[in-house]
Amino acid sequence: MKMIKNPYRLLFALLLISVCLFSFRENAAPNLALQNLRCEMLVNPLGIDATQPRLSWEITADVRNVQQTAYHILVASSMEKLTANVGDLWDSGDVPSDASIQVSYKGKPLTSNTACFWKIKITTNKGISDWSKPAQWSMGLLNAADWKGKWIGLDKSFPWDSITTFSKLSSRYFRKEFNAKAAIKKATVHIVGLGLYELYINDNKIGTQVMAQSPTDYRKTIKYDTYDVTSQLKQGNNTIGTILGNGRFFTMRQNYKPLKINTFGYPKMLLQMDIEYTDGTKSSVVTDETWKVTADGPIRSNNEYDGEQYDANKELTNWALNGYNDATWLKPELVQAPEGKLQAQMNERIGVTDIVKPKTITKLTDNAYVMDMGQNMAGWLQMKVKGSKGQQVKLRFAETTKADGELYVANLRDAKVTDRYILKGGGQEVWHPTFVYHGFRYVEIVGYPGVPTVDDFEGQVVNDDLEVTGKFETSNDLVNKIYRNAYWGIRANYKGMPLDCPQRNERMPWLADHATGSYSESFVFDNAKLYSKWTDDIEDSQKSEGQLPDVAPAFWNYYSEDVTWPATYLIVADMLYNQYGDIKPIAKHYDSMKKWLWYMKGKYMTDYIVTKDKYGDWCVPPESPELIHSKDTLRSTDGHLIATAYYFRLLGLMDKFAKILNKPQDIKEYDALSANIKTAFNKQFYNTLTKQYANNSVTSNLLPLYFNMVPEADRKAVFKSIENKIVVENKQHISTGVIGTQWLMRSLTDNGRADIAYHLVSNTDYPSWGYMVNKGATTFWELWNGDTAAPQMNSQNHVMLLGDLLVWYYENLAGIKTEEGQAFHKLVMKPEPAEGLNFVNASYHSIHGMIKSSWKKDGKNFSWDISIPANTSAIIYVPAASQKDVSDVLTTGSADSDLKFLRMEAGRAAYQINSGSYSFKSHI
Ligand code: BGC
Repeated sequence: MKMIKNPYRLLFALLLISVCLFSFRENAAPNLALQNLRCEMLVNPLGIDATQPRLSWEITADVRNVQQTAYHILVASSMEKLTANVGDLWDSGDVPSDASIQVSYKGKPLTSNTACFWKIKITTNKGISDWSKPAQWSMGLLNAADWKGKWIGLDKSFPWDSITTFSKLSSRYFRKEFNAKAAIKKATVHIVGLGLYELYINDNKIGTQVMAQSPTDYRKTIKYDTYDVTSQLKQGNNTIGTILGNGRFFTMRQNYKPLKINTFGYPKMLLQMDIEYTDGTKSSVVTDETWKVTADGPIRSNNEYDGEQYDANKELTNWALNGYNDATWLKPELVQAPEGKLQAQMNERIGVTDIVKPKTITKLTDNAYVMDMGQNMAGWLQMKVKGSKGQQVKLRFAETTKADGELYVANLRDAKVTDRYILKGGGQEVWHPTFVYHGFRYVEIVGYPGVPTVDDFEGQVVNDDLEVTGKFETSNDLVNKIYRNAYWGIRANYKGMPLDCPQRNERMPWLADHATGSYSESFVFDNAKLYSKWTDDIEDSQKSEGQLPDVAPAFWNYYSEDVTWPATYLIVADMLYNQYGDIKPIAKHYDSMKKWLWYMKGKYMTDYIVTKDKYGDWCVPPESPELIHSKDTLRSTDGHLIATAYYFRLLGLMDKFAKILNKPQDIKEYDALSANIKTAFNKQFYNTLTKQYANNSVTSNLLPLYFNMVPEADRKAVFKSIENKIVVENKQHISTGVIGTQWLMRSLTDNGRADIAYHLVSNTDYPSWGYMVNKGATTFWELWNGDTAAPQMNSQNHVMLLGDLLVWYYENLAGIKTEEGQAFHKLVMKPEPAEGLNFVNASYHSIHGMIKSSWKKDGKNFSWDISIPANTSAIIYVPAASQKDVSDVLTTGSADSDLKFLRMEAGRAAYQINSGSYSFKSHI
């Protein structure tokens, strides 16, 4: 043994030992931190109306295997109390639990306008954390009686308006001066502005949201927003100003197809400002007949399809400030309250989420230019312009151009997509519309004074302001470009509801466009609240006998009594449960889902076959380039097969929901019906000799296979039919439409042919996602042949052909997947090192925290870095020839509890791991 000669070394060694001892002592927390505290999955939300809101937090730690064993939540009515650790609203005490998401508040009943401050402390297997930083939420107005104001508006049009097909209605400006009699402690505004509003106090715009609030079926539900405006108010005189836009309330088409298009009346509003003074007194300012209103302001018309017209000469300078002369303004009408029930908006607001700098401007004629943004986007154009009073600039928008460089607008149908700006003159003017957006890549600029340059414009991207949760990159540039196109397409179609497209005279929340798509999208954006709101929209649209629509909110009155479009209701609720652990949509909508299924059964089920289908496998790749829908019967799939298979799948989901909600009687009913449907289905559609369903289209075989309807012994053979069809007949090309594409990539992979899936995504010829990229698409198309099809239905920015593609990217290529119903508390990580791919770098910010998976392949050498959040665990599958070929390079000295070998399985070594970071190397 070596002697320690140097006394300093001895001292250092002792110090080291004591540091080690100290850090291993019982209860020493390994840098545990609590982050991202959320209430109802929102960060510090104001004005919510969930009376038992659910709280979630993320745990980070710098060591492996940290598991929460208990939590302690404090909720206080003031920050002072919370700081003093007094949870006067709720002190949960130590609750033994590993739940760190969706924990329901169980404190004192919460009443209107209550402010709630909260924090959390946890106990783990590795020690106890400190208290988290504080977070907060506040309650909205919980009872109808809490609203003291009156609905105001102007139920009429003015000479410059036009209440026709191409409706034009100017914005209405409201103002109210009031006196705040003492020093202000707190001021809160609750507002409903239908269809859209902007709120100002003393000329300051309140909030960063635009185009508020989220559209709903106004006959059923009205959303209100809440703002803390304390810092905008002052003692003495103040002014509130609001502007109302039309949105989906006063719809884009008036007095036109009234049976199809629902419209709700002239814009109207309800506002309540509650003020608390430092002297303890309170007062409210509410909408009533003492307000003033004018429709003669600068926004001359605003129509989501046709554009906005703005006359800067009509600007109402200082209208939202004290002392403005409003003598010519009108007294508002006290209008009828809309039928819908008031509810807090608990999904994120729309915002300007990105800026796109234009690429080029090309001169068309003396007066006209075409500008290329370089990206198909949804939002608006901000323009800088200098000229003389009365000059007019016209901006028209399109997704593509014709060969001669002019805009191609045929695929926009009758949407006029034109903004007009009339200059006031005298200096630089900066403008963008307020209440309309466009889906565009190209802009025609007419009448711009002087020569416009790209520096005079910027594209402002307008969509729901959601956290971007996913990052995804591979060694294959095409795979990355497809991802990028999906990212732009998804965000473009989020407008407080998921839309089909952002550009033509449609922009409707068609149900099937976001079925499994919602699941794909959930990896890219935190879409939990948006989709939870959408399930409410769908229930709102249900008819009393049970019918569900094709479009919800039902702005178009389409009830085709189809199975596949309304199926989205259940598919989305399942997605929310799986990805976010949100059980509420299932619990809340269970009865309505069941009612719909029973309605369909009663009306359309004959001998256990559903005999009603409307859309088939919508938009399969057609046989000739100009077609929208294929006429080839071999390409389409039998509608009764689709409807019956879907019905069976939905019963499976109902069975799952009934288990979650503990409804044993229902489970029995679903199981019995499912068994009968399966038998009838196979009898009707399955050819036991050829092992093919119906006409042997990929979708015909795929649905029964993925939905577990195929006789067990024949699964391989049926899959073989799919393989043959894709590989041999279709020469490794996709042949599915909106229905089949939802299950395709996972099916191929689950059945051992990830290579075919990879081939489909690597194609650049027709039909493929890569074909779109190759043709210069920067978003997804509505049709596989979107470059050649007839214009009637040929959007360049639809996401319905996304299907399960991004689910496959994340779950299969990257190996980031939750165990069923676990919301990433438990994961299954099984990456696919597809032939031709050298690396994948992916991360996903799950509701439990950040998950990372990056793998690299170099010949036979495989390396994989993963990281899963504290309080989670995973079963991972390391691609490897044998267990001894696997090493965890960070493991040295780590405990068995971090990492446990389970078994070898189909070329992979399976381990159970607990939270933390790991770095594996193996030979494949
Ligand atoms: C929409 C689609 C929708 C379909 C159903 C189209 O016009 O844009 O996305 O799903 O109609 O009919």
